[in-house]
Amino acid sequence: ALTSAPDSKKIEDLKNEFKETGKDARLTTDYGVKQTSADDWLRIVSDDKIGPSLLEDPFARERIMRFDHERIPERVVHARGSGAFGKFRVYESASDLTFAPVLTDTSRETPVFVRFSTVLGSRGSADTVRDVRGFATKFYTEEGNWDLVGNNIPVFFIQDAIKFPDVIHAGKPEPHNEVPQAQTAHNNFWDFQFNHTEATHMFTWAMSDRAIPRSYRMMQGFGVNTFTLINAEGKRHFVKFIWTPELGVHSLVWDEALKLAGQDPDFHRKDLWEAIENGAYPKWKFGIQAIAEEDEHKFDFDILDATKIWPEDLVPVRYIGEMELNRNPDEFFPQTEQIAFCTSHVVPGIGFSDDPLLQGRNFSYFDTQLSRLGVNFQELPINRPVCPVMNFNRDGAMRHTISRGTVNYYPNRFDACPPATHKEGGYLEYAEKVAGIKARARSSKFKEHFSQAQLFWNSMSKVEKNHIINALGFELDHCEDPVVYGRMVQRLADIDIGLAQTVAEMVGGEAPTTTSHPNHGKKTINLSQTEFPPETP
Ligand code: HEM
Repeated sequence: ALTSAPDSKKIEDLKNEFKETGKDARLTTDYGVKQTSADDWLRIVSDDKIGPSLLEDPFARERIMRFDHERIPERVVHARGSGAFGKFRVYESASDLTFAPVLTDTSRETPVFVRFSTVLGSRGSADTVRDVRGFATKFYTEEGNWDLVGNNIPVFFIQDAIKFPDVIHAGKPEPHNEVPQAQTAHNNFWDFQFNHTEATHMFTWAMSDRAIPRSYRMMQGFGVNTFTLINAEGKRHFVKFIWTPELGVHSLVWDEALKLAGQDPDFHRKDLWEAIENGAYPKWKFGIQAIAEEDEHKFDFDILDATKIWPEDLVPVRYIGEMELNRNPDEFFPQTEQIAFCTSHVVPGIGFSDDPLLQGRNFSYFDTQLSRLGVNFQELPINRPVCPVMNFNRDGAMRHTISRGTVNYYPNRFDACPPATHKEGGYLEYAEKVAGIKARARSSKFKEHFSQAQLFWNSMSKVEKNHIINALGFELDHCEDPVVYGRMVQRLADIDIGLAQTVAEMVGGEAPTTTSHPNHGKKTINLSQTEFPPETP
């Protein structure tokens, strides 16, 4: 095996790599002084004894000190991930929707870094567990970084970001004993699902084969939230972004996923790495669903509700671009681990909507990165834009940039670093008209929670339905609390009575004979009815 071609190539590559860093390089300290030993601590030596180690030894102390501080906090969610570099280009301009060159200039190639992840497991957890997968893309555009931070499932568990700590706490291991790791199979997860009817659509997807992908290369990606695009005439559209893999969407079967989690916990990580090493570069088509601003209220769901899809027969996907991942990271930690995505990183021509999940995300990512990476995380090479950065933000722990200026405020007597006009590429905020009272509220359409779960269930083939039934059987069977699985079986009746009865047989609990929720199977939405102004006490 030592002389086989792949291995000797690898050894050759390694030799070359060290040649690149300097053939004559010698071991030094972090402050550049050459070291004479990597093996022995400086000690007191006499004729008959090798005595204690000296704290004086700066070389040894530096090595231990650096080692002691190697860990940083893992991501509070999506801790386990793998990434790769690549390129993105549009083959059809979306100039009718946006003036952002990344989506209109067909001659441009935009570098990207993509990080795929599981959501609930810790950094060392297995790849093939049942979970949602993250699909986060950083586009290094000439107008600044655009981060499209999506998942492989097009909807989400909650509608309002204020609920995010609850949904994640319920899904992460239980607080007293840190059990279970990276599995949905426990009381708290299902207790949350029962208590939040808005989660019904998403948990149906999470119990489907979508949540056990065969490979990161074979997953769709969805921005999930509703974003906006503004064109050169100032017209705005609501949009959703979609990645579709060239290799098709493929899943494991549950038995494979279980075995792989034990035999090869790095299965997805290795699959992505090896495909790229071998030149089998994964590709995705990039699509947009668009709804003109004046059509916002034409649907029987709220288009700003992240628990709803925009059915493709109502809003077709227009594929306009493609992405290829073609280079593995040089080193995991400074790139895959330290990359910082943020939904609020958009470029001119791309904007937000009033989707209340997106609005909360726009605060959360930036905020969490302060404790994960520190205030100067934007200066890390993987996070730096390819275009110039010029502002008067300064100082803070680990500041690297040396700005060389003599002023650090604006306006200043040199007229240094003035803000850009829109013509010069300054970010254009859409002049959305907003008026109202302050209230904690959701629109009435946000309150319909089952019809798309039914739509999803009814769209499944017999085999896919069986997989969902077996997944629910497996997961709910791991809940010891009869209240939890008993109520969940009732909830399943809000999706399909046969589903509920079959799962009840598998896990116990009273088999439902009727649906438990009034709006099961009916459209109870009155389009003209909203909750404003809310009832006053
Ligand atoms: C991380 C997607 C909802 C907070 C991530 C990552 C993805 C993602 C893909 C991993 C990024 C990476 O690879 O570094 C989504 C999607 C959501 C959603 C598609 C729903 C539409 C939320 C919400 C919040 C949130 C509602 C908070 C209010 C976070 C945080 C991280 C994260 C704090 C860790 C980021 C870091 O440490 O750099 N999310 N997320 N997410 N998400 Fe979300």
